[in-house]
Amino acid sequence: MPRRRDSEKTGDRLERKYEEDALFKEKDSDMFQVIEAVFDRLTLQGMYRLLKKGVVGSLHGVVKAGKEARVYYGTAPDGSELAVKIYYTHTAEFRKGMIQYIEGDPRFGRIRRSPRSLIYTWTQKEFSNLQLCHRAGVRCPRPIDFTRNILVMTFIGEAGEPAPLLRELEPEDPQAFYDDVLGQMQLMWQGAGLVHGDLSEYNILNFRGVPIIFDVSQAMLTAHRLAPTLIERDIENINGYFRRLGVETRDREELREWITGGAEDLYTDT
Ligand SMILES: Nc1ncnc2c1ncn2[C@@H]1O[C@H](COP(=O)(O)OP(=O)(O)O)[C@@H](O)[C@H]1O
Ligand SMILES: [Mg+2]
Repeated sequence: MPRRRDSEKTGDRLERKYEEDALFKEKDSDMFQVIEAVFDRLTLQGMYRLLKKGVVGSLHGVVKAGKEARVYYGTAPDGSELAVKIYYTHTAEFRKGMIQYIEGDPRFGRIRRSPRSLIYTWTQKEFSNLQLCHRAGVRCPRPIDFTRNILVMTFIGEAGEPAPLLRELEPEDPQAFYDDVLGQMQLMWQGAGLVHGDLSEYNILNFRGVPIIFDVSQAMLTAHRLAPTLIERDIENINGYFRRLGVETRDREELREWITGGAEDLYTDT
């Protein structure tokens, strides 16, 4: 398979280049120290690529280390703040779950099931979903670039302090916040053509009293057979959270129709 050999050669070349440069540029190696201990060589090469491209200037530290990914606070060469999400390439248990969120999505064609390929596709999917959301005007981080298992987006927060999760900071006006979240769900479905699929107080930031939707890697196209189930789950979670804050939430069925524009009839066969 000549293609494979070619890409291996490119990999080797990049690797050599990375080593050479890292040796000679202290500034670069500082940045790599931040991720070196956790991530493999291919990831470091990916970071190096983003550095050379001028996407990332430096990484300053971890915002949050989860089970599937780490989010770093970084800055672009022009000083603007970045969130750099790096997926682990060795998270085995999470793989099974990922496949069902990729299968049947026309954006990705035939699925390559090796752990590394899956994670790369997952990263690409989150980037693509963020693009769809951002273009539709959904309040979310703006996607900037991705390579391999690394996703670069705008940082939501201030001076390196990430905005609190809704989970960590209850809204001052829960009713208004609820209405706002519902509006974002409708815009996501009808404008971006997506359903979040993991929407909860853990994946909404409360940024100066305004909801910002993020963590969209599992979000599905509304035409996908999973979409009806996912929108119900999202509605359930959101209603549950706001009910606990004393909000009089809207009827589930009525909400589903409102969010999807009554399109649920389309899916009764699937
Ligand atoms: N663009 C961003 N700006 C600021 N903080 C972010 C951003 N994206 C993620 N975070 C922070 O990193 C954490 C993990 O990100 P998330 O995308 O939810 O990953 P996970 O898949 O681990 O849930 C979030 O809870 C949030 O605090
Ligand atoms: Mg999350």
